[in-house]
Amino acid sequence: MSLQQKDAAIQKLARDAVRLIRPGNVVGLGSGSTAAIIVREMASLDFCSSLYCIPTSLQIKMEAEKSGLRFADESMIPEIDVVFDGADQIDAALNMIKGGGGALLREKILISSAKKVVIAADESKFVRSFSRSVPIEVHPMARTVVARELVRAGARPSLRVLDKGYPFVTENGNVILDTTFESISDPKKMELELKGIAGVMEVGLFTRTPDICYKAKNDGTFEVISNSH
Ligand code: A5P
Repeated sequence: MSLQQKDAAIQKLARDAVRLIRPGNVVGLGSGSTAAIIVREMASLDFCSSLYCIPTSLQIKMEAEKSGLRFADESMIPEIDVVFDGADQIDAALNMIKGGGGALLREKILISSAKKVVIAADESKFVRSFSRSVPIEVHPMARTVVARELVRAGARPSLRVLDKGYPFVTENGNVILDTTFESISDPKKMELELKGIAGVMEVGLFTRTPDICYKAKNDGTFEVISNSH
């Protein structure tokens, strides 16, 4: 897929996706480049000044600010009508791996509570079964003990680092272990098991599957996948 075709497909699907928003809605904003395109498109809605947005990261908050969107207090999270987000990988059952940008904890909170979850990603992110590492957000104090547990379970954790070797620190003050598993046959079971390790703050396996998935295709068009759960 050329970059231009990908951008064109995402632009088109963003235009379609924002039609799901109603005046006065509380809207959750995921993070990443795809979510940013959807946020920019929200600004074109006649009633955008009536919306209440809840961002999952400073990155998307800054995009929303540029688009003149209004923010809601986090106490309104239980009222979220719809959340828009991207994904790093989506399997055949629409489970997702997220957290490539490090915003997984806040994304999980919003996705778990929203009435409707809308995910958009390009064709390359859709796979039969997961084939990439799973970001695991860990309290810094538990970095080594969680890594040891993961190795014992047969996984390969790797501390996420920035250029020059500085550890990546999330907006919640935690670190990320990008963890490779031999296979992920039961994502829900694995999500729960990993969350049971003391010091694990959140797991990048998302098994509250989206209600609507937008797939940006190689030819510049997009496909909509509705999930009846
Ligand atoms: C953020 O932590 C991730 O969960 C993002 O949703 C993911 O990385 C998608 O980003 P892009 O839309 O930039 O591919």
